[in-house]
Amino acid sequence: MLTDTFGRRFYYLRLSITDVCNFRCQYCLPDGYQCEHDRQFLSLDEISRTVRGFARLGTEKVRITGGEPALRKDLPEIISRCKQTPGINTVALTTNGFNMDSQYQHWFDAGLDALNISIDSFEPRQFAAITGKDKLDSILSAIDNALTTGFSQIKINTVLMREYNAHDLQQFFNYVKDKPISLRFIELMKTGDNGDFYQRQHVSGQQLKNQLLANGWIQQVRDKTAGPAEVYRHPDYRGTIGLIMPYAKDFCASCNRLRISSLGKLHLCLFSDQGLDIRQYLQSDDTREFEQQLVALLQDKKVSHFLHDGYSGATKHLSMLGG
Ligand code: 5AD
Ligand code: SF4
Repeated sequence: MLTDTFGRRFYYLRLSITDVCNFRCQYCLPDGYQCEHDRQFLSLDEISRTVRGFARLGTEKVRITGGEPALRKDLPEIISRCKQTPGINTVALTTNGFNMDSQYQHWFDAGLDALNISIDSFEPRQFAAITGKDKLDSILSAIDNALTTGFSQIKINTVLMREYNAHDLQQFFNYVKDKPISLRFIELMKTGDNGDFYQRQHVSGQQLKNQLLANGWIQQVRDKTAGPAEVYRHPDYRGTIGLIMPYAKDFCASCNRLRISSLGKLHLCLFSDQGLDIRQYLQSDDTREFEQQLVALLQDKKVSHFLHDGYSGATKHLSMLGG
């Protein structure tokens, strides 16, 4: 089992399969994706070995992230390889949804269990202002279609921003009124590249939490395997609202995840210094050496990030690592 020196157990792998993205989210890639290296992303076989090695050490859940993972043509095959790995019981995908309308059926057929889609506004013009793409309507209709075909594990991620969405939270509550969807607000995080934007747009999740409580939303008890979100329910709403507050005290105490970048580096934290290159151990089908390396490297995992001290590590933007 993968454990660190603070007794945390890691059964959740976030696997980035590309850092390329076609959106220009203001807080992430406002100038669009810039190619900074020759792009040799993990191959299908390297991905299979990664997941197999992690699974042999107790990993049960894999989330495929990017950049935008759906830009890879072999995404359905990647999903299916993850799903077929002994020990893996959940395969999830985080996407910006750009081609979801034509692709989601292929993902589900390949064995996808859960889907997270990023939507920072339900107002088409505002959505385009944030992402650089006029895609809201196609994403929303794809979600409706997926729900109709019985795919129920859908979550929406919304990054809280002062000028773009925090003044009108009702649009988000309205969306989950009649849909079995969990919408989670993520507090904007400061990365290497977005300092000015962060200064202008960061809103504390605590304000939103107070607003939820004042309006009859009830915080749910977290089970010990839960992710980092605080979840709220309301008797008049079918969906739930979640809050992810990376700046909150003790946020890191329940950390249960490790990350692998699309270039094969192990990241012990979203905000650690740089990834640890483990790609050399992914070149043979025998994953034992890879597993030994993972176990050894994990002993260096720190108790927390240092975001409070204004330090955001080597992460320039989250497209590098998929959040
Ligand atoms: N702060 C908070 N969330 C972010 N994301 C990307 N960059 C940031 C940031 N700086 C979110 C995306 C997506 C998820 C993978 O991470 O909106 O939902
Ligand atoms: Fe692309 Fe996600 Fe970054 Fe937006 S947040 S630019 S969708 S990688």
